[in-house]
Amino acid sequence: MVEIDKTKPVMVTGANGYVASWVVKKLLDEGMTVHAAVRNPDDTKKLQHLIDAAANSKGEIKFFKADLLTPGAYKAAMEGCELVYHTASPFTLAIKDPQKELIEPAVKGTENVLNSANEVKSVKRVVLTSSCAAIYTDAIDTVNAPGGKLTEAVWNTTASINYQPYSYSKTLAEQKAWEMSKAQKQWDLVVMNPPAVMGPPLNAQNTTSESMNIIKMLGDGQMKMGAPKMGVGVVDIRDLAEAHFRAGFTPAASGRYIVSGHNTDLLEMGTILLPKYGDKFPLPKKALPKWLLMLIGPITNKLFTRNFIRNNVDIPWIADNSKAKKELGMTFRPLKETMEDSFQTLINEGILKEK
Ligand SMILES: NC(=O)c1ccc[n+]([C@@H]2O[C@H](COP(=O)([O-])OP(=O)(O)OC[C@H]3O[C@@H](n4cnc5c(N)ncnc54)[C@H](OP(=O)(O)O)[C@@H]3O)[C@@H](O)[C@H]2O)c1
Repeated sequence: MVEIDKTKPVMVTGANGYVASWVVKKLLDEGMTVHAAVRNPDDTKKLQHLIDAAANSKGEIKFFKADLLTPGAYKAAMEGCELVYHTASPFTLAIKDPQKELIEPAVKGTENVLNSANEVKSVKRVVLTSSCAAIYTDAIDTVNAPGGKLTEAVWNTTASINYQPYSYSKTLAEQKAWEMSKAQKQWDLVVMNPPAVMGPPLNAQNTTSESMNIIKMLGDGQMKMGAPKMGVGVVDIRDLAEAHFRAGFTPAASGRYIVSGHNTDLLEMGTILLPKYGDKFPLPKKALPKWLLMLIGPITNKLFTRNFIRNNVDIPWIADNSKAKKELGMTFRPLKETMEDSFQTLINEGILKEK
């Protein structure tokens, strides 16, 4: 049981990111002081939305400069904080060197942040933004899991540096965090395991998250011939921010939490937008057959290998979100609302244009 004093500052790593920005906004709206660790505190393009969020809230924000690969970089931001949110980790699929671009920042970054937590005696709890990617690689893993669904007891054993290295980086980083948590008694670790995060970005023009690419891909014509019926989980970014908040301030919170709103698939994520946007945007309307994807997938997109298609297309994604509902009191907004709000933000920002 860890009681966090709400008058103490709260630290967030990678504070400008897609997910972290909503976590920061939630903390500010609750009147807290946020120590926001970012790579470049002078880059106002990447931070203005947080400065605005602070100005419109009861809270306060202070920026600190830190990089995941610099030992001790997060220590100054952590001083005086009882609660640390570690969200920074590269989320990109377009990489050349998975070791350097994904695994090192994810794993060494986690080690770096937690080493500082060991040194800064005010720290009582660390909430790590892990991922369902640390639980599974392909939709088939959900079906093959004990009881036919993902639970917090399941670990990803199928990703590797050569196959889905992002999932591998998240698995190794979360394992490192648990190892370091168990080696000390000063702070406890609570882990968020969200699937694909969707919802309106607070800084659409400068968001690097792959989540943006998925929303864009559905509306920019890339899927006008159809979308693969590929099983995925989805959570709304605002619900995920709420889960982070509750994970931080619920004394009895412990262990991993699958923070997932919906067991769905890529096709449904597109077709759910049809009633509102179908006239004006080339949204997918039907499923692309698996045999066709096996033929053309590997040519059109290097991530669509035959192995990936075999293990994901026409396979449901099933996860059990009952622990987050029961222990954190989570409820999840409808998928339609999440997808429409995301899509509308990209239209408003000129990122998606009518056909
Ligand atoms: N979006 C999803 O669907 C999803 C799903 C499950 C879990 N997650 C997890 O959520 C977290 C945030 O992801 P996101 O979607 O919000 O992606 P994002 O917008 O790209 O945010 C990533 C953050 O990490 C920071 N970062 C990357 N490399 C860094 C480095 N070497 N040193 C310091 N900071 C670094 C980025 O800083 P810069 O802006 O300076 O690059 C950015 O603030 C990640 O841990 C991700 O694995 C995301």
